[in-house]
Amino acid sequence: MIPPWTAALISAPDVEGAPILRRRFEVPADRGAVTSARLLVTAQGIVEPSLDGSRIGRDVLSPGWSAYETRLRVVEHDLTELLRAGTHELALLLGRGWYSGRLGWMGAEGVYGDRPAASAVLRVRFADGSEWALGTDAEWTASSSGVLADDLYDGQIIDARHESTDRNPVAVEALDPSRLVAYHGPLVVRHERVAPVRRWRSPRGTLLLDFGQNLVGWLRIAARGPRGRALTIRHAEVIEDGELATRPLRTAQATDRFVLSGGEDAFEPSLTFHGFRYAEIDGWDETEVVGTVEAVVVGSDLRRIGHFSCSDALLSRFHENVVWSLRGNTVALPTDCPQRDERLGWTGDIAVFAPTACFLFDMTGFLRDWLADLRAEQSAAGGRVPYVIPDALKGWAVREGEDPESVGVWSDAAVWVPWAIWEASGERAVLEESYDSMRAHVDRVAGRLSARGVWEGDFQFGDWLDPTAPPDDPFAAVADPDVIATAAYCRSLELTARTARVLGCEDEAVALGERAERARAAFAAVYLLPDGTLRSDAPAVYALAIAFDLLDDEARDRAGARLAGLVRASGHTINAGFAGAPYLCEALTRTGNIADAYALLMNRTHPSWLRPVELGATTVWERWDSLQDDGHVNPGEMTSFNHYALGAVADWMHRVIGGIETVEPGYARVRIDPRPGGGLSWARTVIDTPHGPVGVAWTAEPELRVEYWAPDGVEIELGEGIVDHAVRLPGPPAPVRAALRNPARAVKN
Ligand code: BGC
Repeated sequence: MIPPWTAALISAPDVEGAPILRRRFEVPADRGAVTSARLLVTAQGIVEPSLDGSRIGRDVLSPGWSAYETRLRVVEHDLTELLRAGTHELALLLGRGWYSGRLGWMGAEGVYGDRPAASAVLRVRFADGSEWALGTDAEWTASSSGVLADDLYDGQIIDARHESTDRNPVAVEALDPSRLVAYHGPLVVRHERVAPVRRWRSPRGTLLLDFGQNLVGWLRIAARGPRGRALTIRHAEVIEDGELATRPLRTAQATDRFVLSGGEDAFEPSLTFHGFRYAEIDGWDETEVVGTVEAVVVGSDLRRIGHFSCSDALLSRFHENVVWSLRGNTVALPTDCPQRDERLGWTGDIAVFAPTACFLFDMTGFLRDWLADLRAEQSAAGGRVPYVIPDALKGWAVREGEDPESVGVWSDAAVWVPWAIWEASGERAVLEESYDSMRAHVDRVAGRLSARGVWEGDFQFGDWLDPTAPPDDPFAAVADPDVIATAAYCRSLELTARTARVLGCEDEAVALGERAERARAAFAAVYLLPDGTLRSDAPAVYALAIAFDLLDDEARDRAGARLAGLVRASGHTINAGFAGAPYLCEALTRTGNIADAYALLMNRTHPSWLRPVELGATTVWERWDSLQDDGHVNPGEMTSFNHYALGAVADWMHRVIGGIETVEPGYARVRIDPRPGGGLSWARTVIDTPHGPVGVAWTAEPELRVEYWAPDGVEIELGEGIVDHAVRLPGPPAPVRAALRNPARAVKN
């Protein structure tokens, strides 16, 4: 709960670069000791508070990005230990961040406003019971900082020679307190520091560093060198022809510049962030500049709960890549990518990835916060779920002259994301909060259906980035976009009906269930052809029809056989994109073709999940061939090396290889049913559920042995195939216990 807020929003119209807003104040001495001091701070932009010159809190990039028009997050800091009677100074460094910096690939800047502003309240309580408060108002002053420029995409310029002696007035604007919300999700923080694994000169002669991992954050440089010397740092995810490959960043400059003071300097560009594995430093002449360089990993402070490893090193590394892509795309909101001029909350990506994310990390607070933005933007858009949340593309349509409309899979995030959190956490509140939004979404789509009862003719992203689509036309999938969209709608209706049931709205559950039934019937009537194939005969349409349970038994068996046939005909390479690929293995498994699911997963020939790993990927790529076999970057202008969407198959890995599946929400009842295959000789999967750790470790040789453990209160159901091979352990083995205590460390065998 946010207490009554009387402070204004203040900004610095007369200051170039990132301003520091300051206020000196006196803590009275005649009221006894300070018993409580709390600073509440928010910003349209990025704010870094400090007290008497020392940074407060360990959060960075706060308060992140929310639907600013209606939701401004407030961060709370406890200053009780720091405030004493006497003079103090509170300072707020302000960055442009998502508020007034660049957003999106269409050249937009200042989408929300043309300069950042902050608002803060300091509340102090004394031993004599009295209270005292200070808020942002016209009494504050604005100074320049050493940050001469800052932008999330373009980077930051810091001049260590700068002395901020100027004092300018602040501009004061009223803040509507109804916009203020507590920061629900974990704050964005610095995580580990990564030392370079290689340092060399490029063919052009510039210094290059390899951090061994495609990560998200920035460089921390401690250096001493000639006063006025500029170190210019560029970042990239890959090296091409010996130099940084910056083309995939499109217009994002991702360039930081640090100007040395001549003394000992320490730089961290904390008002920006980059997605990179490599950095190029210009101006670092070793005879004149001495110092250290490290990468600082930055992201929302999510708690790691799920782990997976297996006997195949490449597959284990793929799983690690999924984890890294999740970490890199959870910097205050779930994004498509962290490096180019985009980094938006694309709904479709998290719609398909949410189950995987919720197994690996405790996503509840983070995603509930984002869903609050989704609901805010959805109601602002009249029930339509925008392509990206927060909606930085307001009013923007993909096809000129056409109003943006709901899209299959992407807009379904309104239903699929809360459902995934519910399954993982068992928190009913998630469904309560989202139910109206789910309904609004399915009702909106119902209004778009054709007379045949299917969703056809609207703009769709469809099976985005199917590998058969040419690099410059990601829409051109083999799967018919209307089939994908209608399948997604059927699933949303079904999940909304189930939600109504959980919430005790029985009448609505029945009505929604009937609608789901009718939608399914229409799907089959229109798209199921007399020869038993589905329209467009693409792996993705079979995958969705089977995984979302849209066909009767006979049609489903035929669809499964056809899917297996297609997958075999392609030599177990993948012919599906963002919508279809997450469900291929699931659909094959459900229709008795698990060997094909394994063959698909374990394949190393392009397009496949493991080919990028073989090429050295340390994150999941946007395209199956973001880097091509010849070592060149895909010619498409949209080529990221850090997109989690295609990593959604990890959900199948956790449930089917790992053998852990929640049956009752929040793992109150768990199915333990690993189905070994793919030549794997062992696998170990662990999740720290709301009831405690559940784990399965199996070895295939000399004969199958499945060890599992779970807390007492959790009901277990064992798969038929493993009953005779299963051994229940009293608790997790020592290495697992250690890894769960130290979540940054992955569980290794
Ligand atoms: C993003 C995707 C997103 C898509 C919409 C791309 O530019 O990077 O991840 O879902 O657009 O189709």
